[in-house]
Amino acid sequence: MYDPELVPRDTTAVSLDGRYFHFTGPLRSFFEPGGFVTVRLEGGMRELGQVEDVTFSMGGDMHGTGRILGLISEDTRTLDSRRSLPFISAQIQPAEPVEINSLYSGSGDLLDIGTSLSSTDVPAHLLPHRFNRHTFWCGQSGSGKTYALGVVLEQLLLHTSLPMVIFDPNGDFTRLREAKETRETDAIRSLLSRNIRILRPASPDPDSLRVRFVDLPLRAKAAVMHLDPVTDRDEYNELIHLQEVVGSVTGEEVVPTLRQRGTAAALALASRIENLGLVDWAVWAREFEAVTDILDTRPDATVLDLGGFDTPDEPLVVAMAVLDDLWARRERRRPLLIVIDEAHNLGSPDQHSPLHDAVRERLIQIAAEGRKFGLWLLLSTQRPSRIDPSIISQCDNLALMKMTSPVDLDELGTIFGFVPGNMLTRASQFRQGEALFAGGFTATPTMVKMGERLLEEGGADVRVPVRLRPQP
Ligand SMILES: Nc1ncnc2c1ncn2[C@@H]1O[C@H](COP(=O)(O)OP(=O)(O)OP(=O)(O)O)[C@@H](O)[C@H]1O
Ligand SMILES: [Mg+2]
Repeated sequence: MYDPELVPRDTTAVSLDGRYFHFTGPLRSFFEPGGFVTVRLEGGMRELGQVEDVTFSMGGDMHGTGRILGLISEDTRTLDSRRSLPFISAQIQPAEPVEINSLYSGSGDLLDIGTSLSSTDVPAHLLPHRFNRHTFWCGQSGSGKTYALGVVLEQLLLHTSLPMVIFDPNGDFTRLREAKETRETDAIRSLLSRNIRILRPASPDPDSLRVRFVDLPLRAKAAVMHLDPVTDRDEYNELIHLQEVVGSVTGEEVVPTLRQRGTAAALALASRIENLGLVDWAVWAREFEAVTDILDTRPDATVLDLGGFDTPDEPLVVAMAVLDDLWARRERRRPLLIVIDEAHNLGSPDQHSPLHDAVRERLIQIAAEGRKFGLWLLLSTQRPSRIDPSIISQCDNLALMKMTSPVDLDELGTIFGFVPGNMLTRASQFRQGEALFAGGFTATPTMVKMGERLLEEGGADVRVPVRLRPQP
């Protein structure tokens, strides 16, 4: 709890350019990287600053540096981030909650995602309108990524009408239509009124997750069949003319029709389809609605539960169908947030099947060019090296949860050069549910203790069953 009576006034700072400051004083715990300070200038003016770096020795003084974020208004409620003043010697002290909140004055509607890590008095926010950039979400297993992602997505559903599609490999978002508590709040009522579609492989129509083979672009069809245009040129050519050759037959009739044709290429293609077991895949739409048609109606959220398919290629086919279709219709410039949890399943640089290559290349293209068409990625994974570097390098927003590996933190520091190194390093000390947000969607890099989910989690960790002791 912030108590003005307890605030020490024995730390002084200097700033020659009005942008960066150096400070020194006795050891104080709240001057930590990421912490907010108020600089008291002569004449009563005040500036808001953020500590970036601190060094100290036992029994000695503390030294540090930080960045000036702007001039605080007289009533402390607004911040002028375009103005800041240099000073030769000024007193600095921890900022009051109202001064920290001034960071978001005039920003419009905000997402409430939890509280500041250093003070539960200070709410933590993200800027909803800055999800028009790609976001990279990273943290080791169990750090709370999926839970925290859910908190942010709920807030986006509450405060924006930005539609989202969620690639959900573990069924973590399949209960997005259920309130976590029986207590009904306005927020829960609003969330429950949103149009949320949950598409799953085993669900009956209209909630099944399906793809129409004939709608796939040729390259995607070839990837499904592991066909190379040069190495397998005859079969590939048969595939090009498949529609004219077999006509509009049902999936089950494709193989017999090709066999009847009797040419070497048709027979080979028929065997290939049979060997791969393609006709039996649950993912084909047949007479049912395809996921691309459902997405085209732009529900507020569409969860694609990719975990329940029998073959590992089927989730990739869904991803390819969806991403290809979004890309093909990009000129319509209809905004969509493309959320991919466990994004290494789709964007790994190390997986090389025709389907993996096709999906990754489409993701790279969306990362590079999708932004201006309203296709914005939000990718979550455990380590930066698990995602193709050309995808991560296009991300402007970073959410970082607990990460102990110095190699991974170094890599993130290189990619996201705008995040102070000492704040990144603190991620190694994070507890579950603690996160660093940086980039366009925050006013300044911010360390956050995530708030609670309002809707049910689908895939909370399974607990080890305990044996009850017999009563004596
Ligand atoms: N802020 C939180 N409050 C309460 N419970 C949480 C919080 N964060 C995570 N948990 C719980 O901790 C467990 C692990 O969290 P989560 O699944 O979000 O981790 P993760 O980083 O996504 O891990 P993985 O990389 O393995 O998917 C879950 O059971 C989740 O319910
Ligand atoms: Mg997870």
